Amino acid sequence: MRKQVLVFGAILVMAPPVATAEDWHLHGGTQTDWRFSPLDQINERTVSRLGLAWSMELGTSRGLEATPIVEDGVVYTTGAWNMVFAFDARTGQMKWSYDPKVPRERAYFFCCDVVNRGVAVHNGKVYVGTLDGRLIALDQRTGTRIWSVQTTDPAKAYSITAAPLVANNRVIIGNAGSEYGVRGYITAYDAETGKQVWRFYTVPGDPNKGSESKAMEIAAKTWHGKEWWKAGGGGSPWEGMSYDPDLDLLYFGSGNASTWYRALRGQGDGLYTACILAVKASTGELAWYFQTTPGDSFDYDATQPLVQANLMIGGRLRKVVLQANKNGFFYVLDRQTGEFLSAAPFVSGITWASGVDPRTGRPIELPGVADANPKLLSPEPNGAHNWNPMAFHPATGLVYFPARVGTQMVHVPDKKWKYDPNRDNVGIDGNYEGPLFAKMISMPPPTGELLAWDPVAQKAVWRAKYPVLDGGGVLATGGNLVFQGRADGIFAAFRATDGEEVWQFDAATGIMAPPVTYTVDGAQYVTVMAGWGGSAGLMNTPAVGAAKPGWGRILTFALDAKAALKAPPFGHTGPPLPAITAKQDPQIVHTGALLFNSHCFTCHGLNAVAGPLPDLRYSTKETLDSFAGIVLAGARVSDGMPSFGKILSVKDVEAIRAYVIARAQETAKPAQASQRR
Ligand code: HEC
Repeated sequence: MRKQVLVFGAILVMAPPVATAEDWHLHGGTQTDWRFSPLDQINERTVSRLGLAWSMELGTSRGLEATPIVEDGVVYTTGAWNMVFAFDARTGQMKWSYDPKVPRERAYFFCCDVVNRGVAVHNGKVYVGTLDGRLIALDQRTGTRIWSVQTTDPAKAYSITAAPLVANNRVIIGNAGSEYGVRGYITAYDAETGKQVWRFYTVPGDPNKGSESKAMEIAAKTWHGKEWWKAGGGGSPWEGMSYDPDLDLLYFGSGNASTWYRALRGQGDGLYTACILAVKASTGELAWYFQTTPGDSFDYDATQPLVQANLMIGGRLRKVVLQANKNGFFYVLDRQTGEFLSAAPFVSGITWASGVDPRTGRPIELPGVADANPKLLSPEPNGAHNWNPMAFHPATGLVYFPARVGTQMVHVPDKKWKYDPNRDNVGIDGNYEGPLFAKMISMPPPTGELLAWDPVAQKAVWRAKYPVLDGGGVLATGGNLVFQGRADGIFAAFRATDGEEVWQFDAATGIMAPPVTYTVDGAQYVTVMAGWGGSAGLMNTPAVGAAKPGWGRILTFALDAKAALKAPPFGHTGPPLPAITAKQDPQIVHTGALLFNSHCFTCHGLNAVAGPLPDLRYSTKETLDSFAGIVLAGARVSDGMPSFGKILSVKDVEAIRAYVIARAQETAKPAQASQRR
């Protein structure tokens, strides 16, 4: 099925799909990670008949990010806390589920919700990586465990959120944790036995212990700080693997350095953080690297999905790899050699770099942006584009992905930062109260759009603006369609050629995950997970707009299906009724506000306005009475509320409690006033 397709005057060689188009075998849909299916029963003309075939509640309000894998009419997917499910694709009936029982006390070390991006299915086994660093192989028919290996040191702040990738009978898995201080790496295990085959570190270790390889020797020279390795270095490869079997190359991106700020960890490019890498899949040896953000100071992980394509560039057919990076630039690299071919900004308003050097690909960082003084910069750490997968349509030659335009963050390096294994090691000073916040709030709010991008011309072909900031992952199909869900719960289809919206469905809960499509008994289905969360969802800053937290579910659509969605209500209606009405000491409330917005807001929302997790302004008297027990003594650890016993004092927690009470009183006020009228 090797086809040639005429695309905007360029000849494009389609990669042969690895398996039949009926199934969705691989995380990225095709071996090339196109997230494209040639299926066209559901197309621009028939899509108006698309309806809900079934939905299944997953009993969680946490983020759902998985790409389902579909084989022979069975959907394999994951939910919160690494639950693994197998559903009958026709009916939604659950065939089995598997709970790896991730210890809830590890919740403190998950930066970005208790998410997972899916399983890999290979040769009768279903593979899943867990938040506590295990790689588990399950029996595809029954969901029973065949083997399990611990891929990380449980004493360190590692986690796994990515889907494993199977290459050449090896299961490959990376890890996350650079926000807390870990040394990133990627490991290959034998798919049958779980025995380790190789490991590739993304950053060098303690130089006093010698280098593991030439690659580490080269990297060590680019770290200029004093004892920077004590914080692990970072560079965790937490998403975005792609494999080219012809070249035997495994591509992946690496995360930010530990700490975020170069001014704190020491100067130098810090290889191989914020970098796209290619290693030999058979040996784990480095083939090439291209660092998208050298000396990154702004959390510009290069872990966004990588898409392989063969494109005519400058009159030559090039094997390329494509990435829409967090840092706001779209990269085209030669995937055989890593040669930089081109880069261009895909959002407006980038304020950390003026562009990319067209010869070397190195960003032209603006003077002073990475010094130790407070800075207001765009894009913010969730990026101009994050992990949400992009799709490549071979007939249009375009890539489709959610772009976040004009996001801002105030970066305040904490000049007193020192590595502390008990807490996060981002290195932000939570006590900053300078004018940059006011400046940020006065700026126009960021906007979100589905962007159709021509990777050859490096320009946008169309943009479909959303009423919210965040769009989910993308699917492209032979029906000239692009499917995408978004944060306000709308799941929509667009015409691939011009971006005209041709269909939509209200899933009642925000969507981050990418849809997939497949056929069973001759009928084409589309499946997507709906569940809002992740770091943007939990922090719930005003920038996320009308995002819709809610109960998580899996939804499946087919032509002429007419099931009704039964979505149980979620969250509070109306303002809080403060359980404590006594006025709190303003000085203590102020201290509590600073503490809340450095320790609690990442899960309970900025200024205590929560998304998917409890909105503490609605706390009952009982909760407020047991506040210290919950926060310090870990009374609610089994629900995923971490203990802050090693980080906060009793006095700190009293101040946070006073702040929460004051916020409840403050937000209740307008309603009381209106009731009086
Ligand atoms: C890593 C995420 C996370 C962080 C950070 C976090 N929490 Fe929680 N918190 C949770 C979860 C999860 C729950 C329980 C949700 C449930 O019961 O479904 C919870 C529950 C609570 C509750 C009980 C709420 C109720 O109504 O039952 C309180 C009180 C609370 N958290 C306070 C705090 C405070 C104060 C901080 C900061 C010092 C904090 N939390 C930081 C995740 C977090």
